[in-house]
Amino acid sequence: MNLDQLQRAFEETYRRPPQFIVRAPGRVNILGEHVDYNDGPVLPAAIDQAVYIAVAPGQDDCVRLHALDLNQQVAFRLDNLAQKRDVEGKPLPGWALYPAGVAWALQEAGLHTPGLLAAYTSEIPIGSGLSSSAAVEVGFAFAWQTLGSWEISRLALAQRCQKAENQFVGVSCGLMDQFACACGVEGHALYFDTRSLEWDIAPIPPEVALVIADSGVRRNLTHSGYNERRASCEQAVRELQQYLPHIRSLRDVKTTEFAAYSMFLSEIPRRRAEHVVKEIARVHSAVSALRRADKQALGALMYAGHNSLRNLYEVSTPELDILVELTRSLPGCIGARLTGAGFGGCTLNLVELDQAEAFIAGLQRGYAQATGRQAKVYLCRASQGVSLL
Ligand code: GLA
Repeated sequence: MNLDQLQRAFEETYRRPPQFIVRAPGRVNILGEHVDYNDGPVLPAAIDQAVYIAVAPGQDDCVRLHALDLNQQVAFRLDNLAQKRDVEGKPLPGWALYPAGVAWALQEAGLHTPGLLAAYTSEIPIGSGLSSSAAVEVGFAFAWQTLGSWEISRLALAQRCQKAENQFVGVSCGLMDQFACACGVEGHALYFDTRSLEWDIAPIPPEVALVIADSGVRRNLTHSGYNERRASCEQAVRELQQYLPHIRSLRDVKTTEFAAYSMFLSEIPRRRAEHVVKEIARVHSAVSALRRADKQALGALMYAGHNSLRNLYEVSTPELDILVELTRSLPGCIGARLTGAGFGGCTLNLVELDQAEAFIAGLQRGYAQATGRQAKVYLCRASQGVSLL
């Protein structure tokens, strides 16, 4: 759906034109997976696939939503959000919890959330690990900021959205996705320290393409599997505190300390913690590799990260593993790994731009042969964060 179609769909739904359109991008993560809820550093980039939300002020204290891709509509009041019910008293559908949660989290911070009309569509495939839900959250937060005539920093906006997802939707996610969507910078990866909340940009060399390959496989256990992983990390911290009483999170555990004490950990927390501790070290190495434009080193770190997600964190799938393995014999590939939480979804491939076409054709052919499935493959660019069009 293009912007004209979005505008027309808005007008058909609400019999008036939208006042503005918000663009909120998805993200890939170059490295640093499952470390944002362990206070570690991450290296995401916002991408040029985005959610587009057409918005107009409402006449009353209600939010009216039309999710165009789902062909569903709902209306809910802004004065009893915690009930999670629509204007007729029926439970809100799952997709509406994201905008409703954002309104709730903004209100919690004393920010004005006026009634609004919205119609929206996503280019980001849903449930693919490219953060379509964070894009919806940040996009709506931005819409309320625009309509409500207040302004907070982009980081603070991202934190409100994380609160919505943690406490309203019920997924204990970290801050990476909302941060990337809010703060993206064209042509750059974002090096974000999830403890200090400091961040900096690292240029992606212009001759390097971001190629996303969607395995087409989605696992329902994403939410429960994700929350379980997080609980295992917390258990590992509690167990390690017997030997390292100063640690507050896995971020505080040095690789040498982990080597010394990991033998005392229970089996599952030990594997999960090993991934996190070493992944944090990989992110530090990856940023310096990016800054020196050392593509070979960066690629090796990505492959190592994927192996660790497969063997230690156990969030890969056979299809994602096939997509990564295939790249080793394809032209122009610098590195490949699953991106996002895992449990299905997409891989991110860094590919020499002048060989991207041959790479994509080879990957699609190999994947179809190995699995009988078609992989959708997209050539992306690192893009700017949420904005008004
Ligand atoms: C999801 C979460 C993020 C992060 C990643 C894994 O995308 O929303 O906070 O934990 O998984 O790195």
